[in-house]
Amino acid sequence: MSLTVLTVVGARPQFIKAAPVSHAFAAHGGIREILVHTGQHFDAAMSDVFFEELDIPPPAHNLEVNSLGHGAMTGRMLEKLEEVMIAEKPDWVLIYGDTNSTVAGALAAAKLHIPVAHVEAGLRSFNRRMPEEINRVMADHISTLLYCPTQTAVVNLKAEGITKGVHHVGDVMYDVTLAAVERAKGRSEILNKHGLTPKTYAVATIHRAENTDDPERFARVIQWLSDRGRDVPIIMPVHPRTRKLMEKSGLNPAGVQLIEPLGYLDMAWLTHNASGVFTDSGGLQKEAYFHRVPCVTLRDETEWVETVEAGWNRLWTDADYKPRQEISEYGIGKSSAKIAQSLVEAKK
Ligand code: UD1
Repeated sequence: MSLTVLTVVGARPQFIKAAPVSHAFAAHGGIREILVHTGQHFDAAMSDVFFEELDIPPPAHNLEVNSLGHGAMTGRMLEKLEEVMIAEKPDWVLIYGDTNSTVAGALAAAKLHIPVAHVEAGLRSFNRRMPEEINRVMADHISTLLYCPTQTAVVNLKAEGITKGVHHVGDVMYDVTLAAVERAKGRSEILNKHGLTPKTYAVATIHRAENTDDPERFARVIQWLSDRGRDVPIIMPVHPRTRKLMEKSGLNPAGVQLIEPLGYLDMAWLTHNASGVFTDSGGLQKEAYFHRVPCVTLRDETEWVETVEAGWNRLWTDADYKPRQEISEYGIGKSSAKIAQSLVEAKK
């Protein structure tokens, strides 16, 4: 008898992480996956393009919950997810990362006594003002299986008393990055389209609430990018929330080329060929390392401390990089298969 896994995704980074795991489920053969899209991200460029490019099967359910405050968004997702879970009766609910979709999925399942498996468990910024930090802590404490991308994540969970069901499996984003580079090679036109030469430009992305929601902080971020733009040409795919803020505040980084959000293959190829990355995204900090491109993180802390320790990443408040070395914790690009196997074994 096959195992039924109900996967909850909703925001851009979750489509990316779910893709390799979904493929690993299909390859395993013993797992039936029901994909549920909460609707949190809904633009073609923020959602559909990832399903197409990463060969993710269309969601069985789309709950169409988006563009609301945290309470209303999480609450409506919770209500709708509960209905779907009652109807589908999965053996496991699988959640990813730290968004409002993550915590809604975890809570809906836990209340129905359906065990939860959390991919990217144990990350901590230790900054409880971030919505993502609240979502992570909540999700981890009600999960049965906790798939950690790093050993630091395992240690973080232990410090909170969570030791059962914890597995260090590596990072599924490394699995997907390796595949994306191969597919983008010779196919992506992104460099030609914007007149870019490899290793002569930097890529920037900004979207975190902690950077966008405080006008003074947002102005500092824009100023920092404008200053960097004098040394190196910067290209910046702009998240819808940041676009709205730029329009409202009239603040634009001088000399930075602003473009629409990119699909995964173009973004991978743009990053792969960049000389630097400036970002507040968690995912892109690691992707920069996967492509061996140095990164500056425009935040005051990071969950991905290994990238800083290994000299590939620094906070914008740090004076310099540490000596550079390789990172083994993220695995060898086979984390998704480990998750599939672990879920099947957990049933026995
Ligand atoms: C969410 C996650 C964040 C993650 C990010 C990835 C939470 C609390 N935050 O933030 O951790 O890093 O996704 O991108 O869950 N919007 C559109 N079109 C879209 C998507 C969003 O216009 O396709 C607009 C929304 O209407 C809203 C704003 O962007 O005004 C923010 O969207 P929201 O889903 O609330 O959070 P993100 O900033 O995307």
